[in-house]
Amino acid sequence: MTIQTLPTTPFTDQRPGTSGLRKKVTVFAQAHYLENFVQALFDVLPAATGLTLVLGGDGRYYNRVAVQTILRMAAAKGYARVLVGQGGILSTPAVSAVIRASQASGGIVLSASHNPGGPDGDFGIKYNIGNGGPAPEKITEAVFARSKELQQIRISDSAGIALDVLGDYLLDGMQVTVIDPVSTYAELMRTLFDFDAIRKLFAGGFRLRYDAMNAVGGPYAKALLEGELGAPAGTVVNGVPLEDFGGLHPDPNPVNAEDLIAHMFAADAPDMGAASDGDADRNMVVGRKFVVSPSDSLAVLAAHATRVPGYAKGLAGVARSMPTSTAADRVAQALGIPCFETPTGWKFFGNLLDAGKVTLCGEESYGTGSDHVREKDGLWAVLFWLNLVAASGKSVEALVRELWAAHGRCVYSRHDYEAIPTDQADSLMAGLRAALPALPGSSVAGCAIALADDFAYTDPVDGSVSNKQGIRVILTDGSRVVFRLSGTGTEGATLRVYLERHEPDASRHDIEAQTALQPLVALAEALAHIRGITGMAQPSVMT
Ligand code: G1P
Ligand code: ZN
Repeated sequence: MTIQTLPTTPFTDQRPGTSGLRKKVTVFAQAHYLENFVQALFDVLPAATGLTLVLGGDGRYYNRVAVQTILRMAAAKGYARVLVGQGGILSTPAVSAVIRASQASGGIVLSASHNPGGPDGDFGIKYNIGNGGPAPEKITEAVFARSKELQQIRISDSAGIALDVLGDYLLDGMQVTVIDPVSTYAELMRTLFDFDAIRKLFAGGFRLRYDAMNAVGGPYAKALLEGELGAPAGTVVNGVPLEDFGGLHPDPNPVNAEDLIAHMFAADAPDMGAASDGDADRNMVVGRKFVVSPSDSLAVLAAHATRVPGYAKGLAGVARSMPTSTAADRVAQALGIPCFETPTGWKFFGNLLDAGKVTLCGEESYGTGSDHVREKDGLWAVLFWLNLVAASGKSVEALVRELWAAHGRCVYSRHDYEAIPTDQADSLMAGLRAALPALPGSSVAGCAIALADDFAYTDPVDGSVSNKQGIRVILTDGSRVVFRLSGTGTEGATLRVYLERHEPDASRHDIEAQTALQPLVALAEALAHIRGITGMAQPSVMT
């Protein structure tokens, strides 16, 4: 076996987005497309002598091919060792846990997260650094720059290794260890939660329905919930990872997890429902006949964290992405801890977590996590909720209603307009940006505007600045409309419009969110002319 140097032609479209490089499988399958990106990454990283790399993905179509290619390139880069999940499988939070536990220098996650999979679906690749979290923009931008200029790739001509059998292998002098995808992660969960209390909850007849959406969360949820915590067999549904997710869209929101919602609103509904996404870093929690908004979920976890062993000492602070509702801010204020507002994307939480400034963080997009890893973590959030229900004796709904009673309800919704031609989306955003200076102090569609800007973030730890992170328009009563373009899509542009209104009046807490937010929808249209520019009368998805 030898290391080969092969000529390649650079690509111009390999800029990582909100969470790594995501493209259609057909794009990744082009000659040397994956290799080009991996080589760019390896060129940017320092020498790998003596270092360990973690490698795994969500099992979607192309995962196995990519794993073998990356192993052969890692050998050429000179890594001492690669830890790869059995069958090429590792959830995103498990990659993060394994990097941290094994003191690896970093890891490669193969996933397009919640995007559909299969030969016509999406594939993705992302690099995580030694803290277990997504590489910061400084690295992703350097990789992009390199990907546009490199001329050759270096790869072993080895045939690869047997991915399905646990154990150690040698690949052109590099050690490859095929690891159990679940064990390190499960061990970490045992240190955080009161497993005995959760066991008692299930033993007492508490019913959970966990929909793994035919994605990578299945093996983790089965091992922990059914295996260790005594939930009855059948608690985890769609629990076997499939290359095309069985045709499901593995994005846990009430629209895509339609079947779970139907079960949770049926006459004999379980006590709690949950779902995770393609790579198991997202979570949706549902009460009996009660949908929990992800922003509220973060706030509830923060409010009750000290009931959970891993967080019994209290929280250093919390962080939320800018478009996420201010429910967590209100809880943080009551707890006397700081709340940080970051741009969208988990990579912005890494420094705050590393510096010990925050313990919990979350995003409106069904992402919640803590300092236990440096990714959001779907099953962790579900275990947290189970622990809270067990420790408090209260239902999911009761815990959320308590939050509303204490802090008012942050009525919230996100409206997505998908597959907009890029030029239309760009001109819509340009129009909004141009209108910003005149907005503060004015009234539009009957709404009094206090502040309007293009969100810029200065990282409180390293001082790095990220500009143009979303247009926010804040009204005098604190209501907000936020506009940004998705950085994870693979077809045209997706406009996300985030709407938030605070409702302090308890007698109005049951108001239907879309109804309550109607004035903000009208404001969004008046400001952005979505219908006029895109011709779309309605959002593609409302969550
Ligand atoms: C979306 C979510 C964002 C999340 C990311 C990765 O990014 O909005 O909160 O961090 O997926 O899961 P977007 O497509 O909006 O750029
Ligand atoms: Zn994901």
